[in-house]
Amino acid sequence: MSLLELDGVKVHFPIKKGVLVDRTVGHVYAVDGVSLKVEAGETYGLVGESGCGKTTLGRSVLRLVDITEGSVVLDGTDLAKLPGEEMRRFRRRLQMVFQDPLGSLNPRQNIESILSEGMIAHGIGKDQEERREKIKAILDKVGLPSNALARYPHEFSGGQRQRIGIARALVLEPDVIICDEPVSALDVSVQAQVINLLEELQQELGLTYLVIAHDLAVVRHISDTIGVMYLGSLVEEAPSDALYAEPKHPYTKALMSAVPVPDPEVEDKRERILLTGDLPSPANPPSGCRFHTRCPWAQAERCATERPQLRDVGGGHRVACHYAEDIASGKLSLNQGEIVSATREGVDDNPETDTPAEDTPAEDAPAKVPAQAEKPAKDAPVAEADKASDADKASEAEKPAKADKPAQAEKPADGDKASEAEKPAKAEKPAEAEKVTKADEAV
Ligand SMILES: Nc1ncnc2c1ncn2[C@@H]1O[C@H](COP(=O)(O)OP(=O)(O)O)[C@@H](O)[C@H]1O
Ligand code: SF4
Ligand SMILES: [Mg+2]
Repeated sequence: MSLLELDGVKVHFPIKKGVLVDRTVGHVYAVDGVSLKVEAGETYGLVGESGCGKTTLGRSVLRLVDITEGSVVLDGTDLAKLPGEEMRRFRRRLQMVFQDPLGSLNPRQNIESILSEGMIAHGIGKDQEERREKIKAILDKVGLPSNALARYPHEFSGGQRQRIGIARALVLEPDVIICDEPVSALDVSVQAQVINLLEELQQELGLTYLVIAHDLAVVRHISDTIGVMYLGSLVEEAPSDALYAEPKHPYTKALMSAVPVPDPEVEDKRERILLTGDLPSPANPPSGCRFHTRCPWAQAERCATERPQLRDVGGGHRVACHYAEDIASGKLSLNQGEIVSATREGVDDNPETDTPAEDTPAEDAPAKVPAQAEKPAKDAPVAEADKASDADKASEAEKPAKADKPAQAEKPADGDKASEAEKPAKAEKPAEAEKVTKADEAV
């Protein structure tokens, strides 16, 4: 049995109307029947464009939203059915790292207090002395100096804050960490460092991750398995290499065709599939195959009436498309949308990638990410990664955290973590600092 198994999970949010009495006039089908398995010690990457239900799925695993139907089984226990008190204990084993590191850290608490909170709630450490020692060890693992303990979130740069968010999850010794867009709010140069850190921690501590991202490049190198979501459902799932080598679902093909390839020869020949139409509303999803309104290969009748189920097409590759084989063999030809030659200039006008997530800053539109920077390179030597890590911290502390300047990556390294921690990040926004901490929900 896998460590985490989701079976037929649905999360439908009621749409209410009415002045005096609330009437349910419909539902948002945010998650509509997702089944997936996350193996112990592995990473499952979940991708899909904004609004397809990724965050809701992640939150449903932690029961931060009500599960309408289906089961979420962690290590043999169905969390969907657990009473509140027992679920609270299970939450220690499932931690979440959020997209917005500043918004998820209480600005009025120092780092020791933020990291102790969950430990106290779950009875970890016999006294504060013991907790502090453990926190120091974890801060060291995530690359922060121990003098960070007495500092406040606004004193750190974006990348450092995300390291704090990761440390907050780690001190609770979780079995599974759900990382929801863990690098979307960070500079491109810092993104790779945080992804590398997650990988290193996984190797060292045997962690299991569910990594959620709208950017294929982010999950590519870290994931063992990748699931692609469209309008509340999985449309394709495969081992990471197989998915990238040969995407089989038309939606995945279109997503993938928008990702630039570092090899200039391959890049010159790359063809992009341009989809027609906008993402339909999850409150009113299309009949049949949910992708049929935009699918370049959609066939009359069947695609609009019969909903395809995920089925195994060999090699652990599962696809929810009636015609996956015929599309792969070239038997079916395009009947809407178009395939164009991919040029660097053309990348910007792809509807799949130039609409950043509602909750995502415009700077991180995936197609604009330089190919080198977006490859966090599993195989990058550790020493090199560390060097770059310090460079990103140094440059980050001096610059607004969200300024998207590729030049940052080239800045010289500055190994002095302690002095860096003393410099407040200029990007900090007072309004953001007031946000209610999401950590409270997760503890
Ligand atoms: N609490 C909620 N009430 C109603 N609709 C919601 C709620 N949370 C999310 N949604 C809707 O569910 C859909 C999926 O949202 P989300 O899970 O945030 O997608 P993603 O993380 O993939 O961008 C969106 O249409 C969103 O507006
Ligand atoms: S089932 Fe039809 S509409 Fe859906 S992805 Fe396959 S070909 Fe396209
Ligand atoms: Mg989201």
